[in-house]
Formats: sequence, structure tokens, C-alpha cells
Amino acid sequence: MPSPQSSSSPSQSGYGDDPVAVLGAGALGRLWAAYLPSETTGFVPRNASALSSFKLNYHLEDDRGREHDIVRRWLTGLSGTSLLLVTTKAGDTLDALAPIIDRLPAPCPIVLFQNGLGSQQAVAERWPGRPVLAASTTEAANRPTPDRVVHAARGHTWIGALTETGAAVTSAVIRQLARSGLEVRGEERILERLWGKLAVNAGINPFTAILDCRNGDILTSPLFLDHIDALCDELANLIEAEGLPSHSPRELRDNIERVARNTAANTSSMRGDFQSGRATEIDYINGYVARRSRELGLAAPVNQMLADRVRTLVPHPNPERSS
Ligand SMILES: NC(=O)c1ccc[n+]([C@@H]2O[C@H](COP(=O)([O-])OP(=O)(O)OC[C@H]3O[C@@H](n4cnc5c(N)ncnc54)[C@H](OP(=O)(O)O)[C@@H]3O)[C@@H](O)[C@H]2O)c1
Repeated sequence: MPSPQSSSSPSQSGYGDDPVAVLGAGALGRLWAAYLPSETTGFVPRNASALSSFKLNYHLEDDRGREHDIVRRWLTGLSGTSLLLVTTKAGDTLDALAPIIDRLPAPCPIVLFQNGLGSQQAVAERWPGRPVLAASTTEAANRPTPDRVVHAARGHTWIGALTETGAAVTSAVIRQLARSGLEVRGEERILERLWGKLAVNAGINPFTAILDCRNGDILTSPLFLDHIDALCDELANLIEAEGLPSHSPRELRDNIERVARNTAANTSSMRGDFQSGRATEIDYINGYVARRSRELGLAAPVNQMLADRVRTLVPHPNPERSS
């Protein structure tokens, strides 16, 4: 059973060994940093000169409800970084990476944890010579207050390469991430896995955000019932046009409904973002489906309509928190 690695004063000597840098000190970044070895894991600051402390302190509630005090350093130098985990939102990823990438050693693997699709390809296309990998994870973390992270559900993380140099380092990256004690596996068909998750998110998240409801409540809503078959047709057509193994619209719908039932009481990340006044990742989920469909000469009016409606939602505070 893995445990987060609490620490209040990292050893003097530990810092130089294989440091893992985390870009994006939000829910998921703090989760990984808490489980990875404390001496060799730190966060990349947005602006090092604005730091008031070289340490970041926070509390972690692990998946068994136990509390941990976590202390990790802010990394002011990146020249020794052996692995970069990018845990920003999809829409922030390029802008977050661009100012720091030249400070990373050329062989440093870059692992992208974003949900949806579009941001991963943008990074791989912009820096094709870099070892870029994508992660698809079912670990779940949320951040109910700024200094508190909750490991809401234990899951698995699949890692696969997006560039040629990424393929050469996949095993080494898995070994390094496995030091967290979390379940990490290799995935040769990472795009397929990301597509699978995107299809489920596309069929649940926008409905929960538009209807401002929990996952299970979409299943009986007229908005969902009126559009889910057409949405699954659009997804099936695009998945096939992408050259990925095909899925029937019925299979996609069954999968969406199964996940919505199994997570009936949960608030989706999209609804959570909208409730907290944060930008949603709609452009990388239904927005991505609509854009890619257009590029490939396919119609995706339902995905487009859902993306348009989510973009116009006005955030409002809600006492229910996401999980
Ligand atoms: N949370 C989960 O359980 C989970 C599970 C699977 C996948 N994911 C995916 O992982 C990604 C991150 O999710 P999350 O829930 O951790 O989001 P989050 O809590 O919003 O964390 C994102 C973090 O990135 C930081 N950031 C943004 N721009 C930055 C920059 N230029 N430099 C440095 N840091 C920057 C943000 O800082 P500010 O807050 O200061 O803007 C924020 O702390 C998303 O794509 C999500 O879909 C999350």
C-alpha cells in the first residue's frame, strides 16, 4: 500500500539525485508530488523571482482518509531535471511549457497528464525532438481549499510515447513514477486510451455542466436523452476516421451510461470548474471532437452545440465540491 512521503526537512544531499519537476501545482500535481520521493521532487514556479518561500507546504488526505503534511521545494533551477510532469489544465499547457522548456536538459522526458485531446498533440508537434509522453490516469484528486488536496479515488496510470524519443524512455519513466507506489503501466496505444476517456467525458461532462447536476442525474434528463445517440454517432464516425479501432455508437452509449451510473453521486471536473469560476476543458473534449470532425470533413453538430453552450455558462459559486 503506497503512502505519501511526508517530509518537513529534505536531506541536504538528496536534492541533486534525479529530480522530478512538477509543472502545475494544482490537485493532480500535488498528488503526484506527495507520493514521489520527497527529497527529489519539486514544483516549477510560474515566476521564481516572485517566490516568498522556497518551500510549498500543503496537507494531503490520502485515499484512506489519513492526513499528511507535505513539504516540497520550489525548483529555481531545472538543469538537472530527469523527468518533468506537466499537470496544468489542457488550455494552459503550451503557455506553461514554452518559457521553461529550454531550461530542461534535452533528454528530459516530458509527461503530459491532461484530459481530453489536442493539447498533447500540440506539445509533440511544437517540440518533436523532445521525449514527449502522455499519461492517462484514473487517480482522482481535488483541492477543496488552496492548501489541501484530497486523494478522492485510487486508480491506475498508463504512460505512452507521443514522439520517437519518448518511446525510447517509456520504461525508464514508468520505473521513476512507480517510486510513488501508485500503479503505473506502459501503454503502447496511448492515443487510443485517451480517446476512450475523451468519449466518456464528452458524453457526461457537458451535460453535467449545462444542467448543473451530478453525473447520475443526466441519465433521465431530456437534454441527454434527446442528444446522446447523435453524439455517439459523431464520436464513432470520428474515431473511425482517425484510423483507430472502431466502436459502434451503441457501445459508446453503453459505456457512457455505465460510467455515469457508477459515478452517479460525483460532480464532474467540468461542472466543478464551472462552479469554481475556472475555465473548463471543453475545447479539449467536445470542442476537440467538433474541430477534428470539421478538419476531416465530418459533421459534429451535437458536440459543437454542447461546446458552445458550455462556453457561454456563467460560473456561480456552489457549496457542492467536485470529486
Ligand atoms: N484532478 C484529477 O483528479 C485529474 C485526473 C485526471 C486528469 N486530470 C487532468 O490533469 C490536469 C490538471 O488537473 P487538476 O485537477 O490538477 O487542475 P488544477 O487543480 O486546476 O491544477 C492546474 C495547476 O496548473 C497551474 N498552472 C497554470 N498555468 C501555469 C503556469 N504557466 N505555470 C505553472 N503552473 C501553472 C495552476 O495554477 P493556478 O491555479 O495558479 O492557475 C494550477 O495550480 C487537467 O488537464 C485534468 O483534466 C486531473
